Amino acid sequence: MKKLVVQPVKSVKGAVTVPGDKSISHRSVMLGSLAYGTTQVENFLTSADCISTMNIFKAMGVHIKQKGTHLTIQGKGLNSLKPPAKTLDAGNSGTTSRIILGLLSGQPFATRLTGDKYLRRRPMKRVVGPLTQMGARISGPADASLLPLKIETRKLKGITYRLPVASAQVKSSLLLAGLFAVGDTTVIEPTPTRDHTERMFSAFGIPFKRKGDAIKIHGPIKPFKARKIKVPGDISSAAFFIVAGLITPNSKILLKNIGVNPTRTGILDVLKKMGGKITIYPKKTGKGEEPIADILVQSSRLKAITVNDENIIPRMIDEFPIFAVAATQAEGTTVVKKAEDLKVKESDRILMMAVTLKKMGAHIQPTQDGWVIKGKTSLNGCMVSSGGDHRIAMSLAVAALVAQGSTTILDTENINTSFPNFEKLLKQVAKR
Ligand code: S3P
Repeated sequence: MKKLVVQPVKSVKGAVTVPGDKSISHRSVMLGSLAYGTTQVENFLTSADCISTMNIFKAMGVHIKQKGTHLTIQGKGLNSLKPPAKTLDAGNSGTTSRIILGLLSGQPFATRLTGDKYLRRRPMKRVVGPLTQMGARISGPADASLLPLKIETRKLKGITYRLPVASAQVKSSLLLAGLFAVGDTTVIEPTPTRDHTERMFSAFGIPFKRKGDAIKIHGPIKPFKARKIKVPGDISSAAFFIVAGLITPNSKILLKNIGVNPTRTGILDVLKKMGGKITIYPKKTGKGEEPIADILVQSSRLKAITVNDENIIPRMIDEFPIFAVAATQAEGTTVVKKAEDLKVKESDRILMMAVTLKKMGAHIQPTQDGWVIKGKTSLNGCMVSSGGDHRIAMSLAVAALVAQGSTTILDTENINTSFPNFEKLLKQVAKR
């Protein structure tokens, strides 16, 4: 089992380029594979999760060449996927499994989809339910709520579906099913979630309509052409360095070319409200590209905050573990509410962050849908386990920078699912 040993630092300093965005990388392979022609992807995230997506499309006959972080995808059109020889494996990736279920439901061949032991515990009903309403036939354990799932051939029909949980994965899964379904597929999202699928639809020229909180696509859609995709740096990865810069003394850190799509920047808004010295320098981007910026962060005296607005939760859903670390270093009582979906991420993140940070000396209380965190506390280095969750592991590594003594984080193999060079970059900026 891999472990990560982190020593306290005096400061963090330097410029960091984090790898490409995970959500956008997944979608680039999915849509590039369905497009007609050669899609070039720049700055693809070569992490285990995105490689799982790539391998699934290769298994369905798509020619994808990877050279470093550059992908060349030879798409043969919407109806070109071939039956895979064996069960498709999404590894640890919830995004791969859920979004791909929509796409697989629309194929004229049967497939089986599985994942690793963590993913096999995560809820799939949120996509299986509405896909079944569209006519998909999906079977598997616990009434098809868990992987492995079997997806049989069925003709899909469009439906109108109001998302009961704010989830970009569910929205994207239904929109991808909608590409193949007959008639209108309308997804209503009461709370906005990341819109990378919609932006990529626009970039590829896939027609859809957005009206208020409803997104409508009329299927089956016409063939669409390949294009070039530039993947920005992942703000979810940058967040670890942003918080490291804020909570360690005498620090100044520049994060370069980070994706600042407003559906993802909740963490910046919240940290700024807490008094975080964060300056955003927007950069010019081409037509159809996601917005990017350089982000400058300096050590700050943070003050506590209450996060309980349902509109902000999806905008920082993956950043709650690192936000909890920031809250331990903020003056006052921080409260997080309405974030119950954290319980069904790669681990139960409410529980995991409470248990591990408590062990490090933080005053953190888990609740039904968030935490109560009292700061500012001095943390102590100790031995903690990430529970196999990449974002818990990296959050604890950042907490360890301001702890007394060294911290050993166990079970850190999964950092590779989203941020393969995390340890190297952390060492690069850590000044002792
Ligand atoms: C993602 C959506 C979010 C997020 C995940 C990536 C996506 O999940 O937590 O890491 O790429 O669509 P939910 O849709 O379950 O909130």
